[in-house]
Amino acid sequence: MTKPRIAVIIGSTRKARFADKPAAWLMEQVKKRHDMTFDLVDLRDFDLPLFDEVASNAWVPSQDPRAVAWQKKIGEYDGYVFVTAEYGHSIPGALKNALDQAYLEWGRKPAAAMGYGGVGAARAIEHLRAVAVELQMVPLRNAVHLGGGEFFKVSPLGQNGDMSEVDAVLQPSLSAMLDELAWWASVTKAARNELAEAA
Ligand SMILES: Cc1cc2nc3c(=O)[nH]c(=O)nc-3n(C[C@H](O)[C@H](O)[C@H](O)COP(=O)(O)O)c2cc1C
Repeated sequence: MTKPRIAVIIGSTRKARFADKPAAWLMEQVKKRHDMTFDLVDLRDFDLPLFDEVASNAWVPSQDPRAVAWQKKIGEYDGYVFVTAEYGHSIPGALKNALDQAYLEWGRKPAAAMGYGGVGAARAIEHLRAVAVELQMVPLRNAVHLGGGEFFKVSPLGQNGDMSEVDAVLQPSLSAMLDELAWWASVTKAARNELAEAA
C-alpha cells in the first residue's frame, strides 16, 4: 500500500491572517515523517462561494464548479490536518463553509488539528470534532494547541517572535498527533481499498 496522503488545510482566509506562520512551521515538521506525505491546501486558492447547493453532495451532486473542484481536491487525500484559528469560540466561518461543501470525500478518514489562540483554539477544535463526526470522519484525540503565553510569543497580537521560540513546547503534542494520524490514516485507507476491491 502506498503511504497515506495528508492535506494540511489552512482554515482562515483573511488577508491579515496569522495562519501562515503555524502552517509553515507544521509543513517543516512533517518533512521528518516517512510514513505519510503532506500537501499544503489553502482555502484561499479555491474561491469557494457560501454554500448554495440544493443539498449536500451526500444526496445531490454539487453544481458550482468551485465546489466540485474543492471536492475533487479533498478526495485525493487519506487524512487531514486542519490548521485552525478560533473565531468566537469556534472554527472560522470559511472553514465551516469548506467542510459543508463536501461530504463523500471526507468520510472514513481521520481529522487532526493544530489550533492557535488564547486557549490554543481548544473550543474551536472541540466544535471541529463534532462536525467531523457528522461527516463520518475519525476525529483524533491528540491535537497541537498553540495557546496562552506561547501564542502571544509568536502572534502579532503579542511579540510576533519566530516559531522556533515555541517549537520545544509543541513537539510532544505534535508527535502524539502525527502518530495517531498515521495509524488511522493507514487503517482507514486499507479498509477503503478493501471495500473498493470487493465492489
Ligand atoms: C472574528 C474573530 C474572533 C476571534 N475570536 C477568538 C476566540 O473566540 N478565541 C480566541 O482565542 N481568539 C479569538 N480571536 C483572536 C484570534 O485568535 C487571532 O486573531 C488569530 O490570529 C486569528 O487567526 P487568523 O489570524 O489566522 O485569522 C478572534 C479573532 C477574530 C478576527
